[in-house]
Amino acid sequence: MAVEAVASPSRIAPRTAVLAYLAVVGVVLLLMMIFGLTMRLTQAQWIDVPPDLFYVILTMHGAGMVGVAGIAGAAVMWHFVRRHVPVSTGVFVANLVFFLIGAVLILGSGFIGGFAAAWTFLFPLPAHSGGLWSINAAAAYLLGLIVIGVGFLLFHLDVARGILSVYGSLGKALGAPQAFGLAPEKEGPPPAVAAATMVCIVNILGILLGAAVLVISLVNLYVPSFAFNALAAKNMIYFFGHVFINATIYMAVIAVYEILPLYTHRAWKTNRAFYLAWVLSTVFVLIVYPHHLLMDFAMPTWALVLGQIISWLSGLPVLLVTAFGALTNVYRSGLKWDTASGLVFIGVAGWAIGVIPAIADGTIAINSVMHNTQWVPGHFHTYLLLGMMAMLLGFMTYIAGPRSLYGVAPTGLWLFLVGGAIFVLAFLSAGSSSVPRRYAVHLPAWLPYDRIGAIGASLVVAGTLLLVGRFLAVLRKAAQEPDGAP
Ligand code: HEM
Repeated sequence: MAVEAVASPSRIAPRTAVLAYLAVVGVVLLLMMIFGLTMRLTQAQWIDVPPDLFYVILTMHGAGMVGVAGIAGAAVMWHFVRRHVPVSTGVFVANLVFFLIGAVLILGSGFIGGFAAAWTFLFPLPAHSGGLWSINAAAAYLLGLIVIGVGFLLFHLDVARGILSVYGSLGKALGAPQAFGLAPEKEGPPPAVAAATMVCIVNILGILLGAAVLVISLVNLYVPSFAFNALAAKNMIYFFGHVFINATIYMAVIAVYEILPLYTHRAWKTNRAFYLAWVLSTVFVLIVYPHHLLMDFAMPTWALVLGQIISWLSGLPVLLVTAFGALTNVYRSGLKWDTASGLVFIGVAGWAIGVIPAIADGTIAINSVMHNTQWVPGHFHTYLLLGMMAMLLGFMTYIAGPRSLYGVAPTGLWLFLVGGAIFVLAFLSAGSSSVPRRYAVHLPAWLPYDRIGAIGASLVVAGTLLLVGRFLAVLRKAAQEPDGAP
């Protein structure tokens, strides 16, 4: 079912709004990458950053990257889903404004207030700084996250409203009747609608729980007697964090469903397996988060066993139908590769490859060795940097029109790919040698990994600079043109 999108009246054109999102994403992404490179150069002992500043940078990098991945995913999802359901440009723009206000609060909490409790703000750590930051700095950080959360909640509620107005129920929009053989496959929703429905369901739940624990932590800062069960808080934080960051991939993957077919001139096949995968992933992504708590002895055993078993299954359904779908879509299609199609394809590969070390880490016997080693940033940087962000950069290149595809763009792609591979392999090999994560100061034996990682990171930053720079250079003209379909 496809309907003509009924855009809400707004003074900002939808395409301008998407381009504004992407411009913000490009700038914030580069800034956060420079923070990441700074950390890698510090660990490599090529530059000297004091540990207290290192942890501020670690906190800003974590929060900033997760936030910008969310904003990037929202841009991709909104751009494609509004072809099928009515959504509000005003709400979409409001989300970006909330993000910018929240980002200023968070950067201020870190670089002015010294807040450095990591992006995961584990209760009650924000209130126990050991004299490194004030209560107000911690409050600014938590408030920044709450403001960003409000924006995202409005955004998802608006998309869900649009979906319900066309499909009548979230189940139908997800393709549940097709998944269970209750309705003909050909009557199922388009891929963008199924994916957006899944993202709305899981993110609305995740953001509500995240907001609850943020408000509790905020009150606790000023009224310490208002205590909360730390294990319950950790469960809520990881439920929110896991759902939110995973949803960024499920939003970005819409770019693959929409862009590759333009190059291959073959529609993306939606069948029963496709819809079943999205239904299963909706459930799995909500119940898999205990794999972040495998070392918490106070957790009930059944929850940890659930975390392990669902870890083996969680990402797989959608990943398999997407990877298989991408390969069959491309195979013998005669498509001409360029920067946009190359990047979205790399995104599928990066996602698929990154999931393998993640599944290993979700296994209790392996986690007891690998937990809190650099194996962890190794796997998540693989599917977030070479997966999610590659899809985003592909979308950015595609939407800016043909001008953004050439010039320095192909060089940017290769630097991003080669640098990214070196960067994540350095983390993974350091992790397999038990190098701990989140250490500002590294032992001499760890330096070779850090130095190779820093070289890889420099190439990634250079490649991203070329891709984003090219996008920003053609932005003005791109606002007046259609998407860069081949
Ligand atoms: C040039 C690209 C990047 C570089 C150089 C970089 C570098 C780093 C470094 C050095 C760390 C700390 C590792 C440790 O624990 O020892 C880190 C952590 C992290 N990075 Fe990145 N990163 C990059 C891209 C990304 C992207 C694209 C994302 C997400 C979309 C991301 C999300 C995170 C998160 C969530 C953490 C964990 C922070 C924490 O432990 O509290 N990074 N990164």
